[in-house]
Amino acid sequence: MSELVALEREVATCTRCRLAAGRTQTVFGAGDPHAGLMLVGEAPGAEEDRLGVPFVGRSGQLLDRVLFEETGLQRSEVWVGNVLRCRPPGNRNPLDDEIASCRPYLDAQLDLIRPAVIVTLGNFAAQLLLATKDGVTRLRGQQHRWRDCVLVPTFHPAYILRNGGGDALVAMRADFVRAKQAMVAAERYPYPAAVVVGHQPSQPAHSAARQP
Ligand code: URA
Repeated sequence: MSELVALEREVATCTRCRLAAGRTQTVFGAGDPHAGLMLVGEAPGAEEDRLGVPFVGRSGQLLDRVLFEETGLQRSEVWVGNVLRCRPPGNRNPLDDEIASCRPYLDAQLDLIRPAVIVTLGNFAAQLLLATKDGVTRLRGQQHRWRDCVLVPTFHPAYILRNGGGDALVAMRADFVRAKQAMVAAERYPYPAAVVVGHQPSQPAHSAARQP
């Protein structure tokens, strides 16, 4: 059993915080266990809790589209996870003690996957990893050094959807270009041939997918 699978099994029975009582299941994260790029969101919502997969709703569709259009990568080629692995009730914000309880799992995923680049989505992931109270509007637009990775903060896709796209979507697209550039600089893009052989992008064409 791989260490990541062992970690997933451990997470599935976690009772470190109050969120264990209300979940249908944990949402461990998903994607390529050797990904050069890791996306870190906030917490599972109702659909994610039901299906056990991160970013399955409208936010996820937008995320997949921007990821593909700006980096050429599909979701299966990156790792997608969250600050929390359980759904907060009523989709409220994560609380500090919940974030602290779940942090070791995020660190363990980062240690096992070893991405070259991390894109944080929204305030919670950026503030946690960069250990700052600054918001994403201030943090985004640049690459930050994080341990031996490059961290690129960007907006949460739910924020983009609430605001109807606009400048925030343009900014998010630019941040994903930054992430790709950081992967190229780290020689983790394009992916090794073994991973991309036979890869056929199945996403819609650019022109059909510009709206949030
Ligand atoms: N929002 C998040 O931050 N994460 C998910 O998995 C889904 C929605």
